[in-house]
Amino acid sequence: MGKAIAVHSYKGGTGKTSISANLAALYASNGRNVCLLDYDFRAPSIHVLFKTKINNTLNGYLEERCEITDALHDLSGKYRTKGRLHVGFADPSTEAMREMMTKDRKWEMRALHRTLAAKNTLYSKVEADFLIFDTSPGVSYSSINALASSDFVILVSKLDEFDIEGTKELVHGIYESLGRKTGLLLNRIPTEQFPMGAGQKELEQSMTKIFNLPFLGIIPCYCDIQANGGRHLFAVEQPKHPFSQALLEVIGRVEQHLDAA
Ligand SMILES: Nc1ncnc2c1ncn2[C@@H]1O[C@H](COP(=O)(O)OP(=O)(O)OP(=O)(O)O)[C@@H](O)[C@H]1O
Ligand SMILES: [Mg+2]
Repeated sequence: MGKAIAVHSYKGGTGKTSISANLAALYASNGRNVCLLDYDFRAPSIHVLFKTKINNTLNGYLEERCEITDALHDLSGKYRTKGRLHVGFADPSTEAMREMMTKDRKWEMRALHRTLAAKNTLYSKVEADFLIFDTSPGVSYSSINALASSDFVILVSKLDEFDIEGTKELVHGIYESLGRKTGLLLNRIPTEQFPMGAGQKELEQSMTKIFNLPFLGIIPCYCDIQANGGRHLFAVEQPKHPFSQALLEVIGRVEQHLDAA
């Protein structure tokens, strides 16, 4: 049986899309079969990174216009990954984004059932080892559906007060009731704020105390990622880049928590 991981945050721009796409690429490079699913229907981005012709979208699957397998794009050949890298895109047209924002609760419940059914198909027919959901920031239904469908949530935050305060509320208001295994990942930390030596342990302890969640790591703000993150899949194009290496460590920690009873 595969595992599903959602990458989520309270605020936008914390690095969810960069992290989810690169995690998917790292898993596939390491020989695992991965399905990366863009559940950010309000502002899709994954298609920008992968630049491929989109046939069916995840919108089409949720609206019962196609099967989940029809909405997958196999990009293993393009990136020469050992395992299969399948990507499901959200429809990036303005019309589709607006349409998804008008869905009512009943539709979203149906979308949750469709998402859970898709998981089974992706595990059994596509033999996926991992599903990775990229999500919209905050409490949109599609994000909650992705969280509810996951075995593990990577909750990403920057280190400023807006992010930290909002993330606290998210944990209290949503995560505690959902009861999913969750880990906190700090990303885009400016050099001047990045702790050195013993400072890292202290930061980890203070974050663990504030959020009462396992700590997955702290990733600096890299200028080249900032400038080219939407252009390059660093995990396969520059596997030795510290961003790629940091995400490999995150994978190690996530797997420890997934394996724990
Ligand atoms: N560690 C990092 N260092 C520097 N830049 C980063 C880092 N991680 C992500 N970025 C950059 O930050 C910007 C936002 O990243 P990304 O789009 O992945 O965030 P997001 O959380 O998905 O945003 P949104 O909430 O709008 O979907 C991009 O320009 C990306 O390249
Ligand atoms: Mg994003």
